[in-house]
Amino acid sequence: MKGILMAGGVGSRLFPTTFGVSKQLLPIYDKPMVYYPLSILMLGNIRHILVLSTPDDVDLYGRLLGDGSQWGIQLDYAVQSSPKGIAHGLIVAQEFIGDESICMVLGDNVFYGPNLGYHLLDAQELIEHKNMATIFGYSVNDPSAYGVISFDENNRAVSIDEKPSNPTSKVAVAGLYFYPNSALEVAKSIVPSERGELEITSINNYYLDKQQLNVVQLKRGFAWLDTGSHDSLLEASQFISTIEKRQGVKVACLEEIAFEKQWITKSQVLDLAESMSLTPYGQYLLNRFK
Ligand code: DAU
Repeated sequence: MKGILMAGGVGSRLFPTTFGVSKQLLPIYDKPMVYYPLSILMLGNIRHILVLSTPDDVDLYGRLLGDGSQWGIQLDYAVQSSPKGIAHGLIVAQEFIGDESICMVLGDNVFYGPNLGYHLLDAQELIEHKNMATIFGYSVNDPSAYGVISFDENNRAVSIDEKPSNPTSKVAVAGLYFYPNSALEVAKSIVPSERGELEITSINNYYLDKQQLNVVQLKRGFAWLDTGSHDSLLEASQFISTIEKRQGVKVACLEEIAFEKQWITKSQVLDLAESMSLTPYGQYLLNRFK
């Protein structure tokens, strides 16, 4: 399975800040936003990942994340010449994907909660054994800013609408998608929406119509945060700060995840930590691994 991390887009809801910096490089409390979705791929044992960004920003991601070897993963980079939609990312990634299955994660999504590792592995098994795609639904107060899932009386998903003005449920589609390799051909066959994008919702509806879509509903004890606006960015930072201070553990600490997966050694973690020893992030690693 190959991972695709979408870190392009314009970030228009964060202007003027994002006139000067890519949205997914902004901090969520104590680390860059892009660390959070990257941690999800790593937790799912997905070690070969394509980071996709704009012509202006892609080198900044390279500077921040490097080739991934410091975390025992392999990071490649590709340019999306303009924000033609999330599904367009699959087409850009065509060569990278080859004949493998795909996990795509949005660079501005934060996931935190129990059983995540289980869901990530289960989604991969469903592709392997049943050729089924998986998406994640999450109940939100105002779903109209998202892809929204409609259900029948038996709570079975029947359709997905992108940013509906009158949503039929509160269940939004989170920015984490598992697809069989066929998604590549599906992406090539869909047409741009009214807003001119190749919508990931079109791909999800394709698998739904074929009864090849597994919809996992993340429960209320789970946190899924979108960080695309000023308020949601601040709230996500406050959430991460609260959890980390209360529990004394870090969320999306890539060095720690790589160590737990046995992809890097303790001394490699300590080397990485030394260079950040002036920050709570570095101190956390030094205290935990010394
Ligand atoms: O956050 C989940 C939602 O993400 C889903 O519920 C929607 O179905 C899906 O369309 C998407 O909606 P957004 O309007 O929030 O997507 P946005 O344009 O903000 O882009 C999401 C991420 O993908 C963001 O990190 C930027 C990146 N992106 C986006 C586009 C359109 C790219 O890298 N390239 C693109 O062309």
